[in-house]
Amino acid sequence: MKQPVAAILSLSLLLAVTGCGGGGDEGIETPPEPSGSGYSWSLPAGFPTPRESTDNPMSAAKVELGRHLFYDLRMSVNQTTACASCHLPERAFTDGRVTALGATGEAHPRNSMSLTNVVYNSTFNWANPLLKTLHAQALIPMFGEFPLELGWSDHEAEILDRFRHDAQYQPLFAAAYPGESDPFNADRVAKAVAAFQATLISGNSPYDQATFQGQHDALSPAARRGQELFFSERMECFHCHGGFNFSQSVSHAGTSITQADFFNNGLYNIGGVGDYPLDNRGLWEFTQKPADMGRFRPPTLRNVELTAPYMHDGSIATLEEVIDHYARGGRLISNGPYAGDGARNPYKSELIVSFSLTVGEKQDLIAFLHSLTDWNFICDSRFTDPFGNFPRPARCN
Ligand code: HEC
Ligand code: HEC
Repeated sequence: MKQPVAAILSLSLLLAVTGCGGGGDEGIETPPEPSGSGYSWSLPAGFPTPRESTDNPMSAAKVELGRHLFYDLRMSVNQTTACASCHLPERAFTDGRVTALGATGEAHPRNSMSLTNVVYNSTFNWANPLLKTLHAQALIPMFGEFPLELGWSDHEAEILDRFRHDAQYQPLFAAAYPGESDPFNADRVAKAVAAFQATLISGNSPYDQATFQGQHDALSPAARRGQELFFSERMECFHCHGGFNFSQSVSHAGTSITQADFFNNGLYNIGGVGDYPLDNRGLWEFTQKPADMGRFRPPTLRNVELTAPYMHDGSIATLEEVIDHYARGGRLISNGPYAGDGARNPYKSELIVSFSLTVGEKQDLIAFLHSLTDWNFICDSRFTDPFGNFPRPARCN
């Protein structure tokens, strides 16, 4: 077992429950900020207004500070890794790896998630029911030790000093946190990075142009046929990947009941008793309830063409194979330590049904998934790296 569950639990509980930084960081006092920012979101047609976190009101200055921190290699203990290292713009803010690699080379058990439309998620990470704000989430890569991602633990003062003594950052922090004598603390860093991420809103794909902007020919005939399939009872995709964000677990200014759903989609069935690999058991890691084994949050499918490999552990390489997985109603692993028939996992969601589809239908479904790719989002100049560490995707130039 690569990481002790108790350790993940205690870290996650600590970070999530305390919201960390609420005065608890090495004695730093962080006064609450006023709420009600009046921030003007520039939203795509058909998109709801995001719900602002009451303890992290949006401001343009905070977003700008967050953009710098997000791309800054000095955010890691050994100055090799930024948030963007695992969340590359050209891959819709994923990294193309099967599973992520921390600053000091430690393997993460999970696949880096896309940051597309994260502001609308009701919970964060693949299966963490406790992480409810972007700034609480940011503290995990900063301080997490199992595995180490950026390595802030025991190096917090040293990392903060890099920003405190930097002539470029001094005015950025001052503008983002006006009136604070020393805004150079982990809470303020996490909140700025969160504010930047909240602006990563994608809603101008061919699908959106056809659906919300009246451009009926933005979708190819194949994509339109694929759309029918995606929203059909035969395939059931939309039950878990529905709504404007192609994910059920959304929260925004207009939602009163927050929906946070987790499902087992039949990837594993180790030993025929429903088990998932030890370091990736999903919601079970928080509840230890058998029924929560292998339950993960359905991620948004926006920009999914760019976010391979797929699933919480990157164990499916292509969209073709993802569709094969669902068509079979679960994955068969014939040998090795993970052998078992996922289609027979006792905890599998009843919405994972097997179905047959023709070669043409499969191509149509993929054409539809590709129609969710938003190059206006990927190339948006507001999201670019101010340091030039992460070059702009060739397609954007
Ligand atoms: C070492 C690679 C790595 C680094 C560095 C990293 N992340 Fe991540 N990120 C991941 C992985 C892996 C996940 C999924 C974690 C999980 O489910 O346990 C993730 C998940 C997330 C999510 C959740 C997305 C969602 O839809 O729920 C957000 C937000 C995020 N990261 C933001 C950040 C920020 C901000 C930073 C910098 C402070 C950062 N990440 C640094 C790998 C990384
Ligand atoms: C019962 C709910 C459910 C249904 C129905 C469902 N999915 Fe999923 N989907 C999930 C969950 C949960 C995950 C993440 C599972 C994991 O990582 O273990 C996922 C992951 C994915 C991914 C990988 C995304 C990524 O970023 O890694 C794709 C692509 C996908 N589903 C497409 C589809 C398609 C196409 C259909 C219909 C054929 C479908 N899903 C039906 C729940 C569902």
